Amino acid sequence: MPKHVGAWVDEIAPGGRKIVDVAGVSIGIFNIGGEFFALRNRCPHQGGPLCEGKLWGSLESTVPGEFVYGRPGEIIGCLWHGWEFDIRTGQSWTDPRRLRTRRYAVSVEAGSTIVDEEADVGEARVKGPYVAETFPVTTDGSYLVIDVPDDSA
Ligand code: FES
Repeated sequence: MPKHVGAWVDEIAPGGRKIVDVAGVSIGIFNIGGEFFALRNRCPHQGGPLCEGKLWGSLESTVPGEFVYGRPGEIIGCLWHGWEFDIRTGQSWTDPRRLRTRRYAVSVEAGSTIVDEEADVGEARVKGPYVAETFPVTTDGSYLVIDVPDDSA
């Protein structure tokens, strides 16, 4: 697999990114707490510039009404339609086949019991069908080196 210098290590501070052109492929290099990851700057949904998207974390919930924000800066939202991808793995976290408005049966009962007919809090986050293309990144001295397969262009 051909290796290409993508950037100087010092060019990308923690929480930062740099979009580079390597062997004719636009690639985003991300620094997450000193670890470097590279994603193809092309959203697998409809080809949007994925690596220019908003960086945020994940919201996870085990019970209704309680959320935990975690993994700040490790999830990127595509600018075009907002699909989210894990920068570490390229895995999408949006599955439009499963997105829908849920209907809940609510009644007022003694003790104020509210029944959630379709609650599946164990599946609050569902892996989507897409995975963004990722490339291994190594540091060689003070350079960030990306392995880009010949067939990536
Ligand atoms: S092109 Fe990225 S979410 Fe649609």
